[in-house]
Amino acid sequence: MEDALNKQVNREYYSAYLYLAMSAYFETVNMKGFAKWMRVQSNEEQAHAMKFFDYIIARGGKVTLGDIEAAKNKWTSAGKVFEEVYAHEQKVTGMIHNLVELAGKEKDHATFEMLQWFVKEQVEEEANASDILAQIKLVGDVPGHLFYLDHHLGKRA
Ligand code: FEO
Repeated sequence: MEDALNKQVNREYYSAYLYLAMSAYFETVNMKGFAKWMRVQSNEEQAHAMKFFDYIIARGGKVTLGDIEAAKNKWTSAGKVFEEVYAHEQKVTGMIHNLVELAGKEKDHATFEMLQWFVKEQVEEEANASDILAQIKLVGDVPGHLFYLDHHLGKRA
């Protein structure tokens, strides 16, 4: 279980890295609101990583920090980015569910309980990504509308 939780620390940091790369992409195409949203999302992923980190320590475990996979840094549109965010979050949901199953199998009730926060969080993460993807598809290629969406996303604190 400890090993699996350490792997998840790494995966959450990879998520932070991926979203930071997406933030950098949006900066290059002057979509400041999207860039801000991604930066906030990246910070949220670091908070997820630290939640696992703190839990491992609280349980008297050993934290092991491995290499973080390099993030991709090329995209062609906001739509493509959010398709990837949505797919990525679905993948993360699968990882969280695998951890829940492992905790159940090992009768690790405390970890099982801790993971429930992440189960709920993933519902929100997937919903956010698919909502924004749907909004991008709705506004299509109309620059004025995409500008409005950029302004709206930039309000994320
Ligand atoms: Fe850490 Fe986006 O889930």
